Amino acid sequence: MKNKNKNKKKKISFKEMVSHAKQYGFVFPSSEIYDGINAIYDYGQYGIYLKNNIKEYWWKSMIQINENIIGLDTSILMHPNIWKASGHVSKFKEIFLYNEDTKYSYRLDLLLETYFNENHLRKKEKNIKNNIIKYIYKKFKVKEQYKILSLINKLKINKQLNKWTKIYEYNLMFKIPLKEHKNFYLRPETAQGIFTNFLNVLNTSKIKIPFGIAQIGKVFRKEIIARQFLFRMREFEQMEMQFFIPPNQEEKWLEYWKKKRFKWHLSLGLGETKYIFSEHEQLAHYAKKAYDIQFKFPFGFKELEGIHSRTNFDLKNHEKYSKKRFRVFDKEKNKFYIPYIIETSLGLDRMFLAVFSSSLKKETIKDTKKERIILKINPALSPIKAAIFPLIRDKRLIYYAKEIYKNLKLYFLLIYEENDSIGKRYRRQDAIGTPICVTIDFKTLKDKCVTMRFRDKMLQKRVLIKDLKREIKKETSMKQLFKLLL
Ligand code: GAP
Repeated sequence: MKNKNKNKKKKISFKEMVSHAKQYGFVFPSSEIYDGINAIYDYGQYGIYLKNNIKEYWWKSMIQINENIIGLDTSILMHPNIWKASGHVSKFKEIFLYNEDTKYSYRLDLLLETYFNENHLRKKEKNIKNNIIKYIYKKFKVKEQYKILSLINKLKINKQLNKWTKIYEYNLMFKIPLKEHKNFYLRPETAQGIFTNFLNVLNTSKIKIPFGIAQIGKVFRKEIIARQFLFRMREFEQMEMQFFIPPNQEEKWLEYWKKKRFKWHLSLGLGETKYIFSEHEQLAHYAKKAYDIQFKFPFGFKELEGIHSRTNFDLKNHEKYSKKRFRVFDKEKNKFYIPYIIETSLGLDRMFLAVFSSSLKKETIKDTKKERIILKINPALSPIKAAIFPLIRDKRLIYYAKEIYKNLKLYFLLIYEENDSIGKRYRRQDAIGTPICVTIDFKTLKDKCVTMRFRDKMLQKRVLIKDLKREIKKETSMKQLFKLLL
């Protein structure tokens, strides 16, 4: 094996990362031919595989690795009473501020978070911030908006943003017109489909508390601030798991899931320093205690996954609204109880952004002084597992390469390429994160061996064609990730 490593690294800007995602078929702005639409994106020919591989890893590590977790796929459109019972109709609101200078509305919590990070505040500003929080988050009254606006104007959030003139509440759910139901919504979280099927799962399986139900699905929110690419979207996917437990065990299971989810993130190898835990100050209406796993995105540490202690709020309210009994029997105590819930909720698109942004690297190759952009993702998540190349466009090499491709495509997603120089083909595969390139050369015709070239270290080794399947599997299988979870 020849090691040509020790290449010089350069930083990739957020803008370069977004343009790479488009140029290499990972993420396209939605409806681009009509000038696009804010905060909605399409996944391209490679993006879809990276996204599906993240999904598969999450799904299997929930359902396959844990015998007490099952999966569901529930509908996006649900009975409007669900959103009343869940509290989303009355409480899934954000407070917005209208700025006269820019003629834009801004989400207050994000404004305070961005411009008024506790660490940078003077005492006077801290007091003003605390007063705003007191007025707004405890009990927002439109009547009091002038009091709040005067406080906000005192904060002088930014030189360009001075004149705040209106403050209002805004429900984040998309309402869609339907003949038979006036208030019909697109779901803003997948969790409610799990809660409303709780009895179906209990009645049709042998599963016993404590147990979990997992689901991956699209959700919709009327986000206003949308300038962080996949971070804050209006249509996005969640990977959620609701874990049902007896009362008085919330602390224990919250700690359990915090640790377990952290381990899952670490297994992807993005680096331990990229993550921090942060406890929620402003709790969602259903939560008693909540933690974020924050990730170091290109624009700083931000929420990646939420781990929430939801009490029995949801099941209790569904019991009240549906008049069905959401209770299980405790044999020891000889009484029925409504189960409590610990939730883990990860945004798939945010996870995609975390993996993509932290894996994209620029380096100058030591020997050739040429620059390469390389997506150093875990091979188990790579869209394409291997690229098969004839060294040059020679009939015999092409025949061999195509035969290898034909046999191996039954097991892996591969690319076959014969155009351009071998160097250019390598660069293209580096840029989309293909971990292995396989080259068929004239020596292959004699010794039945091919050259495997590994993306990250650019190491090369000769292997027998008959061993290629085993070698690619060893390098790209998800099994190595699962092992880290046990
Ligand atoms: N069921 C709980 C729930 O929905 P959340 O904190 O509102 O909790 C969970 O959302 C996760 O969904 C977040 O941690 C984040 O990863 C993702 N998420 C939330 N809003 C998002 C948005 N507008 N765009 C992309 N992902 C989002």
